[in-house]
Amino acid sequence: MHDQSSPPSVGAAPELFTWEFATDPYPAYAWLRENAPVHRTKLPSGVDAWLVTRYADARQALADQRLSKNPAHHAEPAHAKGKTGIPGERKAELMTHLLNIDPPDHTRLRRLVSKAFTPRRVAEFTPRVQALTDHLIDGFAARGEADLIHEFAFPLPIYAICEMLGVPREDQDDFRDWAGMMIRHGGGPRGGVARSVKQMRTYLGELIHRKRDDLGDDLISDLIRASDHGDHLTEGEATAMAFILLFAGFETTVNLIGNGVHSLFMNPVQRERLQSSLAAGESGLLATGVEELLRYDGPVELATWRFATQPLTLGGERIETGDPVLVVLAAADRDPERFADPDTLDLSRTDNQHLGYGHGIHYCLGAPLARLEGQTALATLLTRLPDLELAVPPQDLRWRGGLIMRGLRTLPVRFTAQN
Ligand code: HEM
Repeated sequence: MHDQSSPPSVGAAPELFTWEFATDPYPAYAWLRENAPVHRTKLPSGVDAWLVTRYADARQALADQRLSKNPAHHAEPAHAKGKTGIPGERKAELMTHLLNIDPPDHTRLRRLVSKAFTPRRVAEFTPRVQALTDHLIDGFAARGEADLIHEFAFPLPIYAICEMLGVPREDQDDFRDWAGMMIRHGGGPRGGVARSVKQMRTYLGELIHRKRDDLGDDLISDLIRASDHGDHLTEGEATAMAFILLFAGFETTVNLIGNGVHSLFMNPVQRERLQSSLAAGESGLLATGVEELLRYDGPVELATWRFATQPLTLGGERIETGDPVLVVLAAADRDPERFADPDTLDLSRTDNQHLGYGHGIHYCLGAPLARLEGQTALATLLTRLPDLELAVPPQDLRWRGGLIMRGLRTLPVRFTAQN
């Protein structure tokens, strides 16, 4: 079965991680799925890794306990020089978090944080997310134009997670600046990124220390309170946890909103359906629609690193102990073996068990918050600015293709100014 974007199944593997690839990786993924579904490649950092692109293999790999999340299992000694680009091979303390550890440590930490990051806490947060969304739109509504990434998609998740964690209002703009520096990787001086991470770590450490004596109704206080059979988070673990919540929940959500709005612009019939259903006060299409936008052009292209702890066979390839394995969620979610018409955006798709939030024990902890933010952002934008449109030709948009994340650098829009 061929999907629309399949090039002929001949020739050499397409070049990955180029500018063209960041703009539209899907033809290359279609080629890999058909011709080399478990493919060994050299990453821009020089590290060799396996890319897994078929849905069935991807799902299996995400849940395979023989694939460890701990970078200590990486075979290449290059990590000693800290040049692999693999997060966690340096900065040990901050990096001892959920995405870099295996059971039983993972089981313990995840159980503790799940006590604090509950569906109830997220549900109670709904009015705050709505207020933040409206406040950000108020900031540009009278102008008739905006850059939706910088003025909307970027600040919304950072303020949301700051509030949820319990970072005081007066400090939230510092977070916004540090986070901005962290996602501008490449663009800004590398030293700036390291400095921002350090400032954030120092700040979070102090905040946790302060809150110990003055617990409140926020996530950090709940993290401090959380205990399990006498077990509790150490201050270092709590700092790493707050950091990963910020880090995992920030750029992902920026790109969920950015990529999502972009997909709606490119698919006007689907957008019109969504807008009509919102105008009729329905929420069903919004809920299935945000899942479909995640499947169709989700923010996380590749799941985070995994390393083989023993030799194993995946998709017919033998993977050796210590080999890095990258599961390409964006490719798996367009697999025609799993999804009907995978290259078609269908907001009402219900058979949609996509891998955008991962699968298995590392399944996204923040999925309920991401859904809340994604749905609130899209519904409010389309309702308040119904004639929202792209202000530049689509081919002028620039994509930021990191290894893990893919999203727009800017998203210039225009609309009828509101007073
Ligand atoms: C894990 C995607 C938003 C916190 C993951 C994973 C994916 C993912 C794919 C698994 C990675 C792997 O297995 O290697 C997304 C997407 C989001 C989103 C697409 C937005 C649309 C959030 C938010 C938060 C969050 C808002 C928290 C505030 C986490 C955490 C983990 C995680 C803590 C690690 C869980 C574990 O290892 O047990 N996310 N995420 N994410 N996510 Fe999200």
